[in-house]
Amino acid sequence: MLKYLTPLLIITIVYASEPISPIPLERGVHIKKALLGKELFFDTMLSKDSSTACVSCHDVSSGGADARVVSEGFEGKKGNIQAPTVFNAKYNFKQFWNGRANNLLEQADGPINNPAEHNMNPKSIEERLNASAKYKQKFQEVYGTSKIEYQQALEAIVEFENALTTPNSRFDKFLRNELQLTSQEQEGYTIFKQLGCITCHNGVNIGANSFQKMGTFIEYNSNTSYPDRAEITKNSEHKNVFKVPTLRNITLTAPYFHDGSVKTLKEAVQVMSKYNLGQQISEEEADKIVLFLETLKGEKPFVMDMF
Ligand code: HEC
Ligand code: HEC
Repeated sequence: MLKYLTPLLIITIVYASEPISPIPLERGVHIKKALLGKELFFDTMLSKDSSTACVSCHDVSSGGADARVVSEGFEGKKGNIQAPTVFNAKYNFKQFWNGRANNLLEQADGPINNPAEHNMNPKSIEERLNASAKYKQKFQEVYGTSKIEYQQALEAIVEFENALTTPNSRFDKFLRNELQLTSQEQEGYTIFKQLGCITCHNGVNIGANSFQKMGTFIEYNSNTSYPDRAEITKNSEHKNVFKVPTLRNITLTAPYFHDGSVKTLKEAVQVMSKYNLGQQISEEEADKIVLFLETLKGEKPFVMDMF
């Protein structure tokens, strides 16, 4: 029987036994388009007063998120929510904490038009890009057209984001049987599964594939005015419900939670365990879970080393 199993099938069966799957190694990215998107991602020209770029709030040289509790954009205006990472965002089943964008293309339109972020509009973006000899040439190379359209700029940014994956974390290598975790890391993973963290944080992004309540056991009082899922669906059962965040590269994306209220990963683990599982875990258990979470740090996205 075994001889009929193709290697791919065997790999699938092995992974299927684990609730977390590794980030695929194949890139499947249009490099030129992604590099154009990279340039746009870093370009403050996409904001009204040329003060803000996507990278202002998504630090792709580190974890792709914002180290501030809430981001600041146009004229220093403060937002009401912690900026999540753009790394591996292509694997999110929806975008934004409240899932109001279905995909990265829908998402990218948001910050550009947001008065507290880029405070721009499609027409002005087109005017600025078409007035730039550099961009005229680059868009020509990628799209073969002489007039730049807003949608093309968004698509390029999305292609850059598609390239922002962080494969080959130690944990992914462990899943592929390429290395052993230390016994403490392994214990941390076992606790993570036994406690039930895995019921919400699973799949390729170890989260980001369902909406769940913050505070399933103990009510959580968020200190922001940010609209939760209930305000999107108009269903009161969705109060305090958010997209489960990814745990990949979680050591690089403090502060934690949608309101940015928690500074350390250990505390975030303790809060989660208490509020979402109704369990008071020991210091030692929390430390071991953190050791496991540290193994989720992946490689720097390859596109960051390309120009
Ligand atoms: C002023 C800061 C700021 C700027 C500038 C900014 N973002 Fe964001 N970004 C945020 C915040 C805050 C959120 C969370 C908003 C929410 O969930 O409602 C976010 C969410 C996202 C998400 C969703 C991730 C997830 O897990 O749901 C993506 C993708 C993203 N931004 C990409 C971009 C791109 C592309 C640009 C440039 C066109 C950009 N951002 C500009 C602050 C910013
Ligand atoms: C019932 C589903 C559920 C369970 C169980 C759960 N989580 Fe979460 N987790 C969430 C949601 C939803 C959020 C976002 C909450 C927020 O921002 O208010 C979150 C956020 C987090 C964060 C912060 C991520 C960030 O980027 O800010 C960490 C770390 C985390 N969880 C770890 C764990 C650990 C460890 C466990 C087990 C002790 C666990 N979670 C159990 C749903 C869950």
